[in-house]
Amino acid sequence: MTELIDTYGRKHRNLRVSLTDRCSLRCSYCMPNDFAAWIPHDDQLTTEELLTVIEVGVSQGINEVRLTGGEPLLRPDIVEIVGRIASIENAPELTLTTNGLKLAELAQALVKAGLTRINVSLDTLSRERFKKLTFRDRFDDVITGLEAAKSAGLSPLKINSVLMQGVNDDEAPALLQWAIENEYSLRFIEQMPLDAGGIWERATMVSADEIFKALSQNYSLTPVDDRGSSPAEEFYVNGTSHTVGIIGSVTRPFCGACDRLRLTSDGQLRSCLFSNEEVDVRKVLRDESKDLESKKLEIAARFQKTVLSKLPGHGINDPSFIAPARPMSAIGG
Ligand code: 5AD
Ligand code: SF4
Repeated sequence: MTELIDTYGRKHRNLRVSLTDRCSLRCSYCMPNDFAAWIPHDDQLTTEELLTVIEVGVSQGINEVRLTGGEPLLRPDIVEIVGRIASIENAPELTLTTNGLKLAELAQALVKAGLTRINVSLDTLSRERFKKLTFRDRFDDVITGLEAAKSAGLSPLKINSVLMQGVNDDEAPALLQWAIENEYSLRFIEQMPLDAGGIWERATMVSADEIFKALSQNYSLTPVDDRGSSPAEEFYVNGTSHTVGIIGSVTRPFCGACDRLRLTSDGQLRSCLFSNEEVDVRKVLRDESKDLESKKLEIAARFQKTVLSKLPGHGINDPSFIAPARPMSAIGG
């Protein structure tokens, strides 16, 4: 069996696929309100091209595909994409990360097409703050979307929250209480230096330790053993089976257990969110001198090349760290 093993022995099974870099929100830790450096439309992979890359990935050992963006539900044929991935041979487990705005419209159809799990981003329970944080007055749409996802049977329903000093860092316990009441599974993610506006600062970043302390004022947290390749440190809340996760991407890197590769919407393979190199598969897909079989062989070779180029860690904490040239919305979260 073919596998994607890097020079440090890490086996890669998880492919994050960005379907578009466009988004209906402007979360300040991701992109500024006036962001304009969009990927040209013609550079974005077509659905046919995407399917080819995913099929090759699966033949190389990928068994989980997470659809991301930007906002993946903005892709007009998202339901078809989900259905086609779900019906490829040895179909990978299929998950999706969304801002939730279009879930009310799409959750049912997505489940029917084969989607099993989703993560929804939500950083505040205040409509006013949501508007300030995302530059869009769409809080109610996220809540309605979450309810639709729950009724459609998407479970566990994971919520991702990023805390920012002076913006929403007082909301950790309230977010957890809300998540418990609604049976959502909440994870806090440390803010990473990946935003197009360059606003990230180590000094103002809310760290995993601070999140733990804030939650501990209201809740007793007991570590869950066996983290596997999950980036989240999980804790049982008040001795119940309900858990909360803290993803210390910056202060507690989990690179040693990383099993992820990424495909950008313009057809570049990346070994890490923070890598400064990309391997071009769009060029192979659009090479008119090659037939489909030889394209697939070349793409398989490029998956292997990507994994072999993977560094041991993201290096955010090295003095020589350089943030990637593209924002999270282009790389895929
Ligand atoms: N740091 C941490 N998380 C981020 N996300 C987007 N940008 C950043 C950042 N700079 C989160 C989103 C979403 C997930 C895909 O990544 O909130 O939940
Ligand atoms: Fe959109 Fe996600 Fe970026 Fe927010 S974090 S602007 S929802 S891509």
